[in-house]
Amino acid sequence: MPSEITEPKTWLIVGASRGIGHEFVRQLLNRGDRVYATVRNSNSKHDVSFWTAQNVDDAGLLKVLDCDVLSEASIARATELSYDNFAFHLHTNTIGPIICAQRLLKSGISIGTMTFISSDSGSVQLFREMEDGFAAYGASKAALNQMARHLAAELKRKGDSTTVLLLHPGEVKTDMANVDVAWEVEGQMTPEESVSACVKTIESKGPGDSGTFWTWENKVWESDVVLG
Ligand SMILES: NC(=O)c1ccc[n+]([C@@H]2O[C@H](COP(=O)([O-])OP(=O)(O)OC[C@H]3O[C@@H](n4cnc5c(N)ncnc54)[C@H](OP(=O)(O)O)[C@@H]3O)[C@@H](O)[C@H]2O)c1
Repeated sequence: MPSEITEPKTWLIVGASRGIGHEFVRQLLNRGDRVYATVRNSNSKHDVSFWTAQNVDDAGLLKVLDCDVLSEASIARATELSYDNFAFHLHTNTIGPIICAQRLLKSGISIGTMTFISSDSGSVQLFREMEDGFAAYGASKAALNQMARHLAAELKRKGDSTTVLLLHPGEVKTDMANVDVAWEVEGQMTPEESVSACVKTIESKGPGDSGTFWTWENKVWESDVVLG
C-alpha cells in the first residue's frame, strides 16, 4: 500500500517576533507545515535566524511579512489608567486583531480555522480581586471574546465554514509575563509547552465549535457562555 501523502497545512501567525507567536512558528515549521509569520518590522530588530536555520527557505515553507495591527496601512495600575493606556489595550487586543481578521476573511483566501489568543483575564465570570492593574487588559480580552463570538455567528449565518476559536494559552513565561505582580503566578509554562498543547487543541476543533473559548489543555472555558 502506498503511504498516504498529506499536504502541509498553512498557518498565519500574527505577532511572531517573540513569545507564544514565535514558538508557534518554530513548532509548525518543525513539523513541515507552511507558515506566514508576521512581525512589526521584518527589516529591524527581530532575530528570525532560528527559523531560516531550519532550511525552510528552499522549500518555500516560511514567509515573513510585516504587520502592525495598530496600523491600518500595514494591516499602572487600574486607578492610574489613562485614556491613552485604555485605548492602547483595546487597539492592540481587540480592534487590531478583529480588523486584521476581517481583512483576511475578505481576501478570498480559504481559511479553515481562525484562532484568537485570548486570556482567562477576559472572563466575565472569573474575577480575581488580586488582579489590580489588569482591568484594561481584561476588558480588551473580554471585548475580543465578544467580537469573535459575533464574528463566528455571522459567518455561520452566511454559510462560511471558517471555525473561529478563542484560546487561553495558560500562564506562559514570555516577555509579557515578565512583570512584577503582587501575587504568586502559579503553573507557568514555557512557550514550547503551551504552544504544543495549543496546536493540539486548535486541530481538534471543527466548524461545529466555532465561537467557543478553550484553554490550552483543550478544556472548554466553562465560566463564560458559549454559542450553541
Ligand atoms: N504569556 C502569558 O502568560 C499569556 C497569558 C494569557 C494570554 N496571553 C496572550 O497571548 C498572546 C501572546 O502573548 P506573549 O506572552 O507571547 O507576549 P510577548 O512575548 O510580549 O509577545 C507579544 C507579541 O505580540 C506582538 N505585537 C504586540 N503589539 C503588536 C502590534 N500592534 N502589531 C503586531 N504585533 C504586535 C509583539 O511584537 P513586537 O516584538 O514587535 O513587540 C510580539 O511578537 C497575547 O495576546 C497575550 O494577551 C499570554
